[in-house]
Amino acid sequence: MKVLVIGGGGREHALAWKLAQSPKVQAVYVAPGNGGTALDARLENVDITDIPALRQWALDQKIQLTVVGPEAPLAAGVVDDFRAHGLRVFGPTQAAAQLESSKAFSKAFMKRHGIPTAEYETFSDPVAAHAYVDRMGAPIVVKADGLAAGKGVVVATTAAEAHEAIDFMLLDNKLGVTHVRGEDGQVVARVVIEEFLSGEEASFIVLCDGRNVTALATSQDHKRLLDDDQGPNTGGMGAYSPAPVVTPEIHARAMREIILPTIKGMERDGIPFTGFLYAGLMIDPQGRVKTLEFNCRMGDPETQPIMMRLKSDLYDVMMRATSGTLDQIDLEWDRRTALGVVMAAAGYPLNPRKGDAITGLPKAKEDSMVFHAGTVPKDGGTLTAGGRVLCVTALADSVKAAQHRAYEVAAEIHFDGAQYRRDIGHRAIRG
Ligand code: AMP
Ligand code: GLY
Repeated sequence: MKVLVIGGGGREHALAWKLAQSPKVQAVYVAPGNGGTALDARLENVDITDIPALRQWALDQKIQLTVVGPEAPLAAGVVDDFRAHGLRVFGPTQAAAQLESSKAFSKAFMKRHGIPTAEYETFSDPVAAHAYVDRMGAPIVVKADGLAAGKGVVVATTAAEAHEAIDFMLLDNKLGVTHVRGEDGQVVARVVIEEFLSGEEASFIVLCDGRNVTALATSQDHKRLLDDDQGPNTGGMGAYSPAPVVTPEIHARAMREIILPTIKGMERDGIPFTGFLYAGLMIDPQGRVKTLEFNCRMGDPETQPIMMRLKSDLYDVMMRATSGTLDQIDLEWDRRTALGVVMAAAGYPLNPRKGDAITGLPKAKEDSMVFHAGTVPKDGGTLTAGGRVLCVTALADSVKAAQHRAYEVAAEIHFDGAQYRRDIGHRAIRG
């Protein structure tokens, strides 16, 4: 069987690496892939990102299964396009992907279906938005409506910060991502302003075939750039699985109160959800669970430790997930902990530097694997080519041991300006 993975990050390297382990899979193509997928003899990069061109290539190559990694092609309708041409593809349609691509859509959806989330209001008018902040006070959260690559959320600790975020997103539309039709036919930006939630975050990721749902192993990532959860938000600086904060009770509650009503609600609204569904959870000290956001894809870097722990054949799982028969499998997981440390480029997240040579990359071992993200092959070597460069992932009997092993491997790797946190997994070790 021939399989295509769309995307070029660490998440896609991990998905492709796992798919290639299936005895049923002869070839795994990654479009566009990265330096790591180029190095792996079982994977092949395909330098196509245009959706119609990629679909034509998939038809010509007789690709039997396509798995979509990132949100951008999903929001652009890659699944609709591939399906319309008879290709088997795992991911949500463009309409279903609005759960992630539009905060206003997902908040209204949650409200309509009684799914717990922060109280909120939606605004296009800056004056009304400012008045709302004055009324509610800080802390308060301002979110742009649209895909903003992690830059669209401002957790304001003061009202002044919230006012500034409103002007940035609405008045000046500096993000430039959030255009909708206003009542008078004009194109305007939109923000969601919501209640600040406190507690501990976890990533709750499930597979959906439209009706059946199978939870993946639990995980938690570290969004801030610096140790002790300081510094700016990033796409994620490291992750581990399982996440002890997701106890069996919290797990059951998240399934019952968030995931199942979401899948049922989407079905009832006429936009059945197929694909990975990722609920960002906020768990309060009383064990109550609220939805911070939905993503309609796997997490990055959560995928890297999750794939290290998956023992089931991912190809079989994906075939089930694309034929409405997820109820017929049970996923098998390695009991050990997997932990991944992201090594990022100088200047990440604002202005990552590219083109630094990477040395000391180890071979994959049973207990460790270096997944690539922003890398490119060059003259037999590998250069940095993006913000998050590598995710050094290790498997061991405890969080502490996995952490130790991942940092041991990371210490061997060098590129100028490399930055990484030294405390990935600290929340799971603390107790
Ligand atoms: P989002 O893209 O909506 O997940 O937001 C990015 C990050 O902002 C989350 O991972 C949280 O750390 C934080 N965040 C978002 N919404 C809230 C909220 N209502 N209360 C507190 N923190 C939030
Ligand atoms: N690690 C967070 C995300 O993938 O959205």
